[in-house]
Amino acid sequence: MSRKIKAAIYETHGNPAEVLRVVEQDLLTPAADEAVVKMRAAPLNPADINAIEGKYPVKPTLPATPGMEGAGVVVETGAKVTNLAVGAQVILPHNFGTWREACVVRADRLIAVPPEIDPVQAAMLKINPITAWRMLHDFVPLQRGDWLIQNAANSGAGRAVIQIAKELGLRTVNIVRRSELVDELRTEGADVALLDDDNVRDQVKESTGGAPIRLALNAVGGENALRIAKTLASDATMVTYGAMSLQPLTIPNGLLIFKNLRFTGFWVNKWYDNATPEQRAATFMPLFQMAKRGLLQTKVEKEYRLEEATAAVAHAMKNRRNGKVVFRFDS
Ligand SMILES: NC(=O)c1ccc[n+]([C@@H]2O[C@H](COP(=O)([O-])OP(=O)(O)OC[C@H]3O[C@@H](n4cnc5c(N)ncnc54)[C@H](OP(=O)(O)O)[C@@H]3O)[C@@H](O)[C@H]2O)c1
Repeated sequence: MSRKIKAAIYETHGNPAEVLRVVEQDLLTPAADEAVVKMRAAPLNPADINAIEGKYPVKPTLPATPGMEGAGVVVETGAKVTNLAVGAQVILPHNFGTWREACVVRADRLIAVPPEIDPVQAAMLKINPITAWRMLHDFVPLQRGDWLIQNAANSGAGRAVIQIAKELGLRTVNIVRRSELVDELRTEGADVALLDDDNVRDQVKESTGGAPIRLALNAVGGENALRIAKTLASDATMVTYGAMSLQPLTIPNGLLIFKNLRFTGFWVNKWYDNATPEQRAATFMPLFQMAKRGLLQTKVEKEYRLEEATAAVAHAMKNRRNGKVVFRFDS
């Protein structure tokens, strides 16, 4: 392939639609333990936007190429690479900078993905489905038939929670802020879908027959998260993993003293830092199986070419989207 590639870069933090530009770069020759990956797809996630704005806890050296996840195909390998062959579909390492046509990566940092999985779907397995899977396993021991509740249920992460919970036999209460999503999520497998309002606690009780809810997943914060916390059973856990409202979660003392609720957080970056290769593989395996069977699907609103990076980031920053905004490199 050509040794010149296009890459999105930003040299200063700021409004992504203003600071992002697409430049031509030289593609390095791979070292013996490296592979060249031609990118096929990469999503624009909220964390990517926050990183360009300078609001994400991981600060890259500038200039930087954004993109925390993506999928591609191996097109060249160094002499000592044995774990992957040319033609393999792979997921890029965490925080790598995926918004570029091709990259040179240490081969042992790449994760091989079954070729049957559509590249756009493969590109979005690394953050939201892994987050959903870990949150459903690492905090509360849930049995088949148990309930959990979540907000921002129509988000990429929220829909992954619905799909994985279904596969695990768990039942989900899904809170959204737009009425048109209620029926849509029910059709897609949500056991209960409700519009967020002041009556949500009563509606949850009615919809679940008063069954105890021992896990809440919070991607919003503020009043919305508090309304969800109030639906929980004693000794339940709320896991906060996003803060889309940008509002802090203020917890009434009674929820701590009388209900003994536990409030904790999850960050997939930390999970990747701490997980062994075996633990990563064990988490990816069931997600690959689900994706192959069409049970794990991230909704896409629009695909863009890399040259359209400014329009793509502006689109990704819009609320009320009907799915992810994705770069498609091979279209
Ligand atoms: N901690 C971690 O490791 C981790 C991992 C994955 C994701 N996340 C976080 O999880 C969140 C969701 O990520 P995603 O990729 O799934 O997002 P996404 O697909 O882009 O969806 C964004 C969601 O946020 C909702 N939203 C936006 N502004 C809101 C507000 N002011 N109040 C309530 N809801 C609001 C949107 O609702 P509308 O559609 O109605 O606009 C939509 O449901 C993000 O904060 C992301 O950073 C964290």
